[in-house]
Amino acid sequence: MNTIEDIELMLGAPRADVRALYDRAATRYDHFRDLWLQLAGAAAEQALIDDLRAVLRPGARVLDAGCGTGALARQALRIEPTAQLTLLDQSSGMLAEAADVPGEHVVGSVLQLPFSDASFDVVVSGWVIETVPDPMAAVQEYLRVINPAGHVLYTFCSLPHGFFSRVGSAWLRAAVGRGFAGEFLPESRTPWHDCERSHRIEGTGGLVTEVALRKCCRVGAPLLPADLSSGDSGV
Ligand SMILES: C[S@@+](CC[C@H](N)C(=O)[O-])C[C@H]1O[C@@H](n2cnc3c(N)ncnc32)[C@H](O)[C@@H]1O
Repeated sequence: MNTIEDIELMLGAPRADVRALYDRAATRYDHFRDLWLQLAGAAAEQALIDDLRAVLRPGARVLDAGCGTGALARQALRIEPTAQLTLLDQSSGMLAEAADVPGEHVVGSVLQLPFSDASFDVVVSGWVIETVPDPMAAVQEYLRVINPAGHVLYTFCSLPHGFFSRVGSAWLRAAVGRGFAGEFLPESRTPWHDCERSHRIEGTGGLVTEVALRKCCRVGAPLLPADLSSGDSGV
């Protein structure tokens, strides 16, 4: 770890070019990922891993969308060693750090996934939608590429509700914004409510959120209790 470069990364000017930002951060990204989980992200990430364990079946086709260094793809393999993985990221630097993960490695955008409809059983996407200009468009793409019985699981940084939580987390939000192009999404910009069977977990005063969706989006549909396994079967 290079401390000076790490501080520079966290406090540097915001960069318009998210791909260049992640190419630059790639070799040190896992260090910051661990820190983020310790500071705020652990509850949502654990919820995603628990949901992944609930839905993964032998041979499942899994897309890690915005895979970064491949942390969630590795997790999927630990849970289900026969999973068929596809890792996609727009940063070739990040993707290179996931080179040891077996599966297809694709440079591409979550806003325009280079896959046909219903290509996957599960899409996982950790801490990605807050770094794209249109989070809803990314989630719509995730839903497009899962099969009718599939699952989409994602985490993101979410804007705290209360005034004091917002003030108290301002430094963290600034660091994540400047260092990693992550916007803490307000409820109005989170896509979870579009689906009948979504499932939201908030933690740390609203700083993190995990969502699990089935392919059942109907805008304006009432939100039903989370139930990943009922209905039109699992993966
Ligand atoms: C905060 S990192 C999360 C990485 C990984 N999912 C994880 O859990 O550690 C955000 C990742 O999203 C990628 N990303 C950002 N915008 C993207 C886009 N439009 N298409 C594909 N990947 C994107 C970045 O390159 C980066 O690897």
